[in-house]
Amino acid sequence: MCGIVGYVGPRYATELIYNGLKRLEYRGYDSAGVAIIDETSGRITRRREVGKLDRLGQLLQEQPTNGHIGIGHTRWATHGAPSARNSHPHASMDGDVVVVHNGIVENYQELRAELQAEGVVFASDTDTEVIVHLIALYLNQGHGLPEATRLTVKHLKGSQAIVAMYAKSPDQLVAVRIGNAGGVTLGVGDGEMFVASDIPAILEHTRQMVFLESHQMAIVKADGYVVRTTDGVPAQLDIHDIPWDAVAAAKGEYDHFMQKEIFEQARTLTDTMRGRVDFENGRVRLPDLELSEDEAQGLERLIIVACGTSAYAGLIGKFLIEHLARLPVEIDYASEFRYRQPILNDRCAVLAITQSGETVDTLAALEEAWDTGARIWSIVNAIGSQAMRLADGYITMQAGPEIGVASTKAFTASIIDLYMLGLYLGELRGVLSPAELRQHVNALMALPDLAGRVLDHDDEYQALAEQLSGYKNFLYLGRGINYPIALEGALKLKEISYIHAEGYPAGEMKHGPIALIDETMPVLTIAIKDHVYDKMLSQIEQARARGAVVIAVATEGDEFIKEKADYVIYVPEVSEMLSPLVTVIPLQLLAYHVATLLNCDVDQPRNLAKSVTVE
Ligand code: AGP
Ligand code: GLU
Repeated sequence: MCGIVGYVGPRYATELIYNGLKRLEYRGYDSAGVAIIDETSGRITRRREVGKLDRLGQLLQEQPTNGHIGIGHTRWATHGAPSARNSHPHASMDGDVVVVHNGIVENYQELRAELQAEGVVFASDTDTEVIVHLIALYLNQGHGLPEATRLTVKHLKGSQAIVAMYAKSPDQLVAVRIGNAGGVTLGVGDGEMFVASDIPAILEHTRQMVFLESHQMAIVKADGYVVRTTDGVPAQLDIHDIPWDAVAAAKGEYDHFMQKEIFEQARTLTDTMRGRVDFENGRVRLPDLELSEDEAQGLERLIIVACGTSAYAGLIGKFLIEHLARLPVEIDYASEFRYRQPILNDRCAVLAITQSGETVDTLAALEEAWDTGARIWSIVNAIGSQAMRLADGYITMQAGPEIGVASTKAFTASIIDLYMLGLYLGELRGVLSPAELRQHVNALMALPDLAGRVLDHDDEYQALAEQLSGYKNFLYLGRGINYPIALEGALKLKEISYIHAEGYPAGEMKHGPIALIDETMPVLTIAIKDHVYDKMLSQIEQARARGAVVIAVATEGDEFIKEKADYVIYVPEVSEMLSPLVTVIPLQLLAYHVATLLNCDVDQPRNLAKSVTVE
């Protein structure tokens, strides 16, 4: 989950690496460090600090170091408390070799004991440190850094991304990727090279990127790179031209990335449709899905696998695809699916939804589907990510970089992708007539404007947040296609404000959660004018009868609901199928404002990281 940045080239490395880490801070932020081959001494200098990256920045001011090659890391601790001594880069005993690492060395205890028996003294409590001592042992036997690193990874169990640097070969970095613990991206510059765990870290320097596959390593020098497998076989990888621009990865005039990303949604909804929804001919085209009409007709089941917010998008996908394409859809948490020996065959498609494209459970779920004959698809935001490369076909979210740990614009983009998938399958399977298709496509056209209208009411959500920020518990209720929005609204609130919030399908309230309701637990209901509106009104009555403060997300013009709810959030009228895209936005902003009122760190909430690359 950590962030890694490396540089080799004519520029000074320290600031460049530090700025790259700033862009990756969303990946882990309990401590950070850099190591540079100092241009004056030729020795490796390390600067490491616990806490947020700013503290490392301060240390670098107080104790500057500079050179033309270096590596940096922002950590999300798995083994060993967050502290300066456990921060990466870790160094060999003589200080000549350093590594940064993402992942877990599952057999580190065994390796640590063996190394200690050979006289190695450990300076940290991390699993990572065994890596650097193993590399040092191989270097002492006369191997060069690439071979010493290659031999080292053969000892390691688990998934890893590693970058190593050696003072005695000051012109190269060695990067390795084993499994799905995290990506290794090479940025190709003009006479300079970059290494990073994620695209935004180096996007301001180059858009030409290469993504290592599992069991590949790269030897990176200023004038280029060589890729091999960890068995030493040369490998060729495509260079991807990343369409994002660096400005998209910056906060701009906003206070937080999350806020910026919520407000971007009016635009990102359009971007997601661009090139795929043919408004003129009333159709959807998804060529990257690589699916023929015969294949679409032969499909008997779609299984969606995802985690967190992406799983909630998947729940909405079930409603959409079953309705539009009459294809049975199952949805499972990727972390459960991977361990339950799923029943799959060549008439199934397994669809992963993942913003980062590198969530370890989601990738493992896809791996579970290999060799079963099932078609593998992904809906993914990060271009070139593992989930995109592993799949037989994919749909990109086209939402641009999402930096805030709480996912917002990727959620709405993936719902659009699922809607497009439903329409596409509906056409290929002969379920939707051309006239029906056109009607659905026309409905999509209005969405960005509707999202913009919801966003215009931000000051009302802020005012509501002021009324609600003192409560300690919330219940979110929704029904039908808006039941996943209740789950998502509750997740947003809990992850960034640390307020306990539960999301429930409204009809389930009386089967248990109603016992919790009293005047201390506000109940937020999504009660738009859809086919379950009357049922939602009864839930509101039941909550009110128990003394709860009720907040209702309702359709503009619904005056009646004002008599039932204490607070009403109006959203524009929209088809039921597309309503989650407008009902979720006020809930994102409500969570955002409550969290800022409580002085919580919105973009980097405690204990969380943007890409969950460990189990
Ligand atoms: C969302 O706000 C979360 N922080 C988290 O649930 C996230 O959606 C989940 O980890 C899945 O990530 P992915 O889409 O990158 O796979
Ligand atoms: N397992 C390593 C540690 O705890 C790496 C964690 C990370 O990916 O940041 O330090």
